[in-house]
Amino acid sequence: MTDAVFRPARMLPGRLLENARVLPSRDHILPLLPKGGVFCEVGVALGDFSELVLAQCEVSEFIAIDIYTLHDYPEMWGGRVGATLAGRRHADFFADRFAPYVRSGRVRLAEGNSTDVLATLPDASVDVFYVDAHHSYEAVRAELDIIKDKTRPEGIIILNDYIMHDYMTGTPYGVVAAAHDFMIEHDWEMLYFALHAGMFCDVAIRRARAAPPPG
Ligand SMILES: C[S@@+](CC[C@H](N)C(=O)[O-])C[C@H]1O[C@@H](n2cnc3c(N)ncnc32)[C@H](O)[C@@H]1O
Repeated sequence: MTDAVFRPARMLPGRLLENARVLPSRDHILPLLPKGGVFCEVGVALGDFSELVLAQCEVSEFIAIDIYTLHDYPEMWGGRVGATLAGRRHADFFADRFAPYVRSGRVRLAEGNSTDVLATLPDASVDVFYVDAHHSYEAVRAELDIIKDKTRPEGIIILNDYIMHDYMTGTPYGVVAAAHDFMIEHDWEMLYFALHAGMFCDVAIRRARAAPPPG
């Protein structure tokens, strides 16, 4: 258990859900995203999701934000971290995994605390954010508050681990509460709700569209 606090989420108003579509998994979001844009993944870990994005989204640039310290936790994920890194530092492993993209400049490793790195991005410069770093309310809320100014007008923010509690580690998560507070306060609507076998779901949100005229 951790000392993270359980935080119930505010109910979303129906108008922020009117255009939402339910999908079988987060992988099903990828073909629906705009092609050729700038994609920023906040928390890349070993790059498993990054690989899917690079294979399917034809990104012009992929910004890979992480603190890159997984080499300090080889026992994580049942030992998969240590076995995969095989003695390499986290950032070196990630750069090696995507070496051709890194060489061509399409993948850029951005090492540091998420909010510090996000603050350095130009305003309105990113088409899609994938938020999957620390899952406390405070961390996600702080990231979203920066990300909203960095997202292009038609841009999309996807949040992973849209779940109240990580039942594998006994950790309360603040992703749902942070997402709802952000959506209500800044008028962002849900676009996709992507299911997951263990209900570690994803949501994709965008700036709310004006309601179509009746009739
Ligand atoms: C759940 S993993 C990401 C998994 C990855 N998105 C995927 O789906 O394959 C979380 C990652 O976030 C990173 N992380 C955690 N807190 C962070 C922070 N405050 N700033 C930057 N990265 C952070 C960790 O180092 C870890 O690699």
